[in-house]
Amino acid sequence: MISIIGSGSVGTSIAFLCVCNALDDVLLINRTKSKAIAKSLDLTNAIPSTSKFSISGTDDYSKLIGSDIVIITASTEVPLNDRSENISQQVTMIKKIAKKIKVYSPSAIVLIVSNPLDVLTYFFQKETQFSRFKVFGIAPSLDTNRFQYHIAKKFSILQSSITNALVVGEHGDTMVPIFSNIHVNGHFFPMSDVEKDSITLNVRNYWKTLRDYKTRSQFGIAKNVYDVIDTIINKKEKIIPVSLVLEGEYGEYNVAIGVPTKIDQDGIIEIQNMDFNQSEKNLFKISAKTIRNNIQSI
Ligand SMILES: NC(=O)c1ccc[n+]([C@@H]2O[C@H](COP(=O)([O-])OP(=O)(O)OC[C@H]3O[C@@H](n4cnc5c(N)ncnc54)[C@H](OP(=O)(O)O)[C@@H]3O)[C@@H](O)[C@H]2O)c1
Repeated sequence: MISIIGSGSVGTSIAFLCVCNALDDVLLINRTKSKAIAKSLDLTNAIPSTSKFSISGTDDYSKLIGSDIVIITASTEVPLNDRSENISQQVTMIKKIAKKIKVYSPSAIVLIVSNPLDVLTYFFQKETQFSRFKVFGIAPSLDTNRFQYHIAKKFSILQSSITNALVVGEHGDTMVPIFSNIHVNGHFFPMSDVEKDSITLNVRNYWKTLRDYKTRSQFGIAKNVYDVIDTIINKKEKIIPVSLVLEGEYGEYNVAIGVPTKIDQDGIIEIQNMDFNQSEKNLFKISAKTIRNNIQSI
């Protein structure tokens, strides 16, 4: 069973993809019970006639029993200017949710989506003491999509021709696009510092630019989360950057931060060792320090 905490824009977009693709039974848990029920009744009509699965909604965490995957999209308030602006309410919320998940679905793989992503991933893992390979934040892959989009746009090339363009670090203003290994159509693709700076700014500000037209993002993150759920449920393998608690990898300890990983049905099976150049290493350190400062501010 796939359980999704939070029945807002992001949670229900993920549920829609899971239901349409008949992945598994879906449970929606929301603070306001009527919303979870309403969304599940609506989504029920999207279940293909060939599917053997169903969707239901509740505010009762005990219904989590039997979950294989739990996805956390709950949010006390959606951030407007900085993903860390509601940090203390969000940390209080994640700790309460973590206690419940520990009781009702202690062997589930848990995907964190709510912001501030890295800080909440850290506190969830510490609160539950679940394996750090079974608790990870989904966002660096979305940031990577945005990075590829801006490279493609700037150079008028196809996004599908770009490989090894990756975003690591914080899901926030200090995220680190990795330029040093980008290939286009199989060939190394060098860029000037001015080009790199402009793309970096656009990637970091993507969500704010979106706000000029739409209050919040939902479909890109939903597809990224869906791909991870599909990998786990259908026993596939996927290379993907995610946020997890590091214990020495990339020179960092006791902080959750985005790095490239390999995942399969058991969660993270490998943290990939990728070469960054010196400037990227420096930016990654600054990013880790920023997350650590946010963690310590609680
Ligand atoms: N990782 C990423 O790349 C990424 C991308 C986009 C968004 N996000 C984040 O995802 C989160 C959700 O965004 P959204 O647009 O879906 O927000 P939203 O539409 O406001 O939905 C949030 C939902 O969480 C529910 N909720 C609050 N506290 C809860 C609790 N303790 N238990 C269960 N449900 C609870 C709310 O319930 P009520 O009905 O009672 O209000 C609401 O339905 C935000 O933190 C946002 O910043 C992350």
